[in-house]
Amino acid sequence: MERTKTGIPGLNELLNGGFIEGSAILLSGGTGTGKTIFGTQFIYRGAQEYNEPGIYITLEEGTTNIWWNMKSFHWNIAGLQKKDMVKIYRIGMFKPKEIAEQFEKEIAKIKKMVNELNAKRLVIDSTTAFGMFMESDAQIRHNLFKLINETKKLDCTTILISETMGKRDQFSRFGVEEFIVDGVVMLYFKPPVRALLVRKMRGIDHDKKVHPFNITGNGIEVNASEQVLWESLGD
Ligand SMILES: Nc1ncnc2c1ncn2[C@@H]1O[C@H](COP(=O)(O)OP(=O)(O)OP(=O)(O)O)[C@@H](O)[C@H]1O
Ligand SMILES: [Mg+2]
Repeated sequence: MERTKTGIPGLNELLNGGFIEGSAILLSGGTGTGKTIFGTQFIYRGAQEYNEPGIYITLEEGTTNIWWNMKSFHWNIAGLQKKDMVKIYRIGMFKPKEIAEQFEKEIAKIKKMVNELNAKRLVIDSTTAFGMFMESDAQIRHNLFKLINETKKLDCTTILISETMGKRDQFSRFGVEEFIVDGVVMLYFKPPVRALLVRKMRGIDHDKKVHPFNITGNGIEVNASEQVLWESLGD
């Protein structure tokens, strides 16, 4: 099976090479754990180093945070955008009454963008923001299922970001996302320690330890040779 390089130093070796091409990965963690940086790095390095076009979809506060990251890490995303290697797309507010139609439209738009760019990488930041627009748990579950299943049909390796309350055993916000996806990567921040765990990865004999990571001037770097104790992450 072909692998998609994560673009995160130290992580590919925990995955025996990378994500499985075309798989859907949930990236979960509490606020400020580095989810958006991870997502932008996956897209940036994918385009820059592996020549794989990527699309970053944000439902969060806007594209500003993405730009801050790009600036802070000196990632020349503007140049890659000009070359049609990267696209950043913002989905605005959903109106609860029109959610079904709006949802269909956005999915169609995403498919079109993926085809036009011939994108191999896709990030959705975040499924949490997405669920916030829904009125009931049933609606959230229905639409998350649909979103994840639609992205799985694309010829893309997809990262879906889920913001949790930061608890060690909470793998997603709504408690359903982790079952639909192929893999789950958890990010933790127990000041001053940042840590990463590959919680599940279908089809890969992945590393089972929690590893410390740093955010440096180059983005996220995982220290694959050191470990953080599971117990130290609280409950
Ligand atoms: N250039 C940098 N060097 C080192 N650390 C940085 C740098 N830029 C940001 N950070 C750290 O990364 C954190 C933010 O990371 P990020 O925005 O990816 O988190 P997140 O999990 O997406 O959070 P949110 O809940 O806001 O979505 C900052 O709070 C800061 O601690
Ligand atoms: Mg974020």
